Amino acid sequence: MDDAAAPLREMWYYAFPSAKLKPGRTLARVYLGEPVLFGRDADGTPFALRDICPHRGMPLAAGRFDGHEIECCYHGWRFDSAGRCTAIPALVPGQSFSPGRVAIRSYPTREMQGNIWVFFGDDPSTAPAIPEIEGFDDASPRLVESVAFRASIDHAVVGLMDPAHGPFVHLAWWWRSHRSIHAKAKAFAPSSWGFTMVRHRPSANSRAYRLLGGAPETEIVFCLPSIRLEHIRAGRHAVYNLTAITPIDDETSEINHCIYWTSPWLSALKPLLRPYVRKFLHQDRAIMERQQQGLRWDPPLMLIDDADTQAKWYYRLKREYRRARAENRPFENPVKPRILKWRS
Ligand code: FES
Ligand SMILES: [Fe+2]
Repeated sequence: MDDAAAPLREMWYYAFPSAKLKPGRTLARVYLGEPVLFGRDADGTPFALRDICPHRGMPLAAGRFDGHEIECCYHGWRFDSAGRCTAIPALVPGQSFSPGRVAIRSYPTREMQGNIWVFFGDDPSTAPAIPEIEGFDDASPRLVESVAFRASIDHAVVGLMDPAHGPFVHLAWWWRSHRSIHAKAKAFAPSSWGFTMVRHRPSANSRAYRLLGGAPETEIVFCLPSIRLEHIRAGRHAVYNLTAITPIDDETSEINHCIYWTSPWLSALKPLLRPYVRKFLHQDRAIMERQQQGLRWDPPLMLIDDADTQAKWYYRLKREYRRARAENRPFENPVKPRILKWRS
């Protein structure tokens, strides 16, 4: 994978819903091609360490965690949740090697609104903030679906924001059919680390929105590295769809879709909602996995105006993020306000 296609560093990435990490437990994952061991200590604080023992490479996930320290299963070296080595059982009193000289890489970790995020880079203070779901304080998502599929981060992001595949990929009786394809015109504006599809009334063929009651209005924000936040407002109620893509390695990505809502109607409909969300994501997975069969031959690809303009912006934003950091200057958003028109 060349540098341009590699995932951005100095970024927060979505890991998983908070509920997956119980106090005193660990969870092993691979993100951005690195083995990461997540843990939650006895008082509830999450942490993340490189999942490799610095002694002889044993995965720490195979060891024991007592809620404070992880003990490697091979020679019993112990590490605290910051990655500092606290004990080497094989040492004899008086030997000069000190455990304090050994440390494992630790990843900044943050728990926010029911999700765990992990930072890949050196300095979170200069990176884009984790997007916040306004008005939901520390509420957790009511529904989370995660799907891993074979697609690099770029293809996953571009596939996610692509407005033109809906009528062909997301066919369903309850949503729409080929025949419902319409001309669309949407206003876009730059926003922090990305761009926003300005608040508007969704088109009449988005039947599912009517379930919310009232006349819905929606705003969709994309921000680096790979986050989409859709805010639907209908009367007194709000629904937020947070979609975050995390690269697993060069060829695999994971889409995490979190839904927050206030509407009691949606709570009542939740058992029906989950299969729909799942079906939607699996349609994306199926199409992107099929695309891999063609990408294997490394064909030249096209991005057309206006349907693929968001994809072009994504590549430009990513390039600018890297350049601004390399040149040690402020990020300059390359997106200009524009109306995009397409049929979908
Ligand atoms: S490999 Fe971990 S203690 Fe030896
Ligand atoms: Fe899709």
